[in-house]
Amino acid sequence: MSTVDEVKQKLDIVEVIGQYTKLTKAGRNFKAVCPFHNEKTPSFYVFPERQSWHCFGACSTGGDVFTFVMKKEGLDFGETLRLLADKVGVSLPTHIEAGPKKDEKDKLFQVNESAVQYYHNLLVNSSVGEKAKNYLLGRGLTMKSINDFQLGVSPDAWENLLNYLKEKGFSENEMLDAGLIMKNEDGRARDRFHNRLMFPIRDARGRTTGFSGREQDGSQPKYINSPQTIIFDKSGTIYGIDMAAASIRTKDRVVIVEGYMDVIMAHQYGFTNVVASMGTAITEKHIAILKRLTKNIALALDPDKAGEEAMTHSVDYENTAEVEIMVVTLPADEDPDEVIKRDPKIWETAIANASPLAEYMVNFTASKFDLTKTTEKSKLIGQLIPLIAKVKNDLRRDRWLRTLSKLTKIEYNVIEGLLKKSLIDTTARKPLNRSAIVPVDTIGYNAREEYCLAILLQHPELKKQEEGLQPDYFQNVVNREIYCACLETDDTAALKEKLEPVVREKLEVITTKHTPADRVGVKYTECVLALRKAFLMNQEAMRAEVFAMETETGGAGAALARLKEEGIETSIQLKDVFARKPRVIRRANGRRNN
Ligand code: CTP
Ligand code: MN
Repeated sequence: MSTVDEVKQKLDIVEVIGQYTKLTKAGRNFKAVCPFHNEKTPSFYVFPERQSWHCFGACSTGGDVFTFVMKKEGLDFGETLRLLADKVGVSLPTHIEAGPKKDEKDKLFQVNESAVQYYHNLLVNSSVGEKAKNYLLGRGLTMKSINDFQLGVSPDAWENLLNYLKEKGFSENEMLDAGLIMKNEDGRARDRFHNRLMFPIRDARGRTTGFSGREQDGSQPKYINSPQTIIFDKSGTIYGIDMAAASIRTKDRVVIVEGYMDVIMAHQYGFTNVVASMGTAITEKHIAILKRLTKNIALALDPDKAGEEAMTHSVDYENTAEVEIMVVTLPADEDPDEVIKRDPKIWETAIANASPLAEYMVNFTASKFDLTKTTEKSKLIGQLIPLIAKVKNDLRRDRWLRTLSKLTKIEYNVIEGLLKKSLIDTTARKPLNRSAIVPVDTIGYNAREEYCLAILLQHPELKKQEEGLQPDYFQNVVNREIYCACLETDDTAALKEKLEPVVREKLEVITTKHTPADRVGVKYTECVLALRKAFLMNQEAMRAEVFAMETETGGAGAALARLKEEGIETSIQLKDVFARKPRVIRRANGRRNN
């Protein structure tokens, strides 16, 4: 038995969850007011036999004891494992980060830290930094903010940092690896940043991973960043996360802005749940990190970018990552730092009035149609209905419908009717026969999950082919962890690096597994469908159980209706699984004949 299984076996999910929320007995199971969202009537259930939990309310999500603690404590898998192992007295293999790699990283953190001190000291205590300091103060920052964010300045020189770090005992290679210096064509080393305002970029633990330097004389580009290093990866970096994490958790909301100055000014005025995404688009990595802290994500980006974000990924993020995305509308032509400085109330109001993604999207799409014409109205509705049909969550779906109704001045019921009709058209006419529901096979699932991962590890390009594979489909928490890590990198060495020792062991086992020699793509798709089916059947079985129990005890009408509706949703998805199987094979045969 693996260490993780051992920990899991020694834990009782009822007892663990019972420490966070008051559970009451409901048949064989337990229910509670959901600890993850605000509600008056309980829709959160714990299933001792399955050792799982599920919220049938607004969250519409569930998992095992690990996912519960991860969500509730905002911890990653490794941290959760340590916490729970400690609780049940299981000792874990010590976290040896492949020796030299860890030392190497530590060294880079150290050299960065020295550079932070150097730049900061220059800004605050020297005549060289006078101009930069006055610029920052002139933009409204206080000395406290400058100190909290350790802002600095790089001198208009070529070797000053290099010499300073040498004196501190760092080697040129270490400075190069950290991206602090670079080599000329003639091989001469020189500082990377000159005459720039320096923003240290820190990770969640407050360690400086890299820098961003803003010009102060109009030179281009406006910002120069550290290059990618073993500790700096721009696409997964969230500026301000170390200062904001606690506040994001307590406020249960994060606000994403574009610029460093915006983050700092927001914090200065007490809006401490604000972070920035390093000027890049918001990626799954960002969402994955933030999601551990809150499910409520507000985008305060400039309107073009926000629209683009919403169109590209946000709807999917909401559905699959189970987060709620809001869009903040700011006064035109003003960055958040200016708005906040001018009048923090405006910022507060803008955040309070953020539109749910649905509203924003409806208005955004509608702006392309002339709604004085009936034909244009129906075109708009036609375009949005398939999107709305995808929205998993009841409240969110209601919001889409309401917004659309208000905008088109077509009655809510009419639009809802259209939506239902489109759902019925795509659903089996007879609902799934409940007595036919078989318990999910719990013996085969681990092998199937491993098989799926084995294929994926050897053919990372398949990740793109089958985007429907969700982490939740993995019932085994270690497999799930491997899958999540897989999504972030195609590189096996980097993958190992990311994983906890116990997970790494499992990875080794999986990589030695036999994978199909031909038609890999088809086999992979089949495997994903099988996992999806098992997941949906499991959901269905839990829902049926709760439904039966609630009906028996005369449960609240609304709760029953909601369960029924969710049941329909699952049926739709299950039908999709069944419908896809033959198609996949036919497509594959076609390809082989070509
Ligand atoms: N950015 C970047 N590289 C650039 C331009 C921008 O990495 N060449 C990123 C930075 O994270 C920057 C953000 O995109 O903070 C927003 O860019 P911009 O609006 O141009 O800068 P501001 O943050 O508004 O800077 P300032 O207010 O000081 O003008
Ligand atoms: Mn700005």
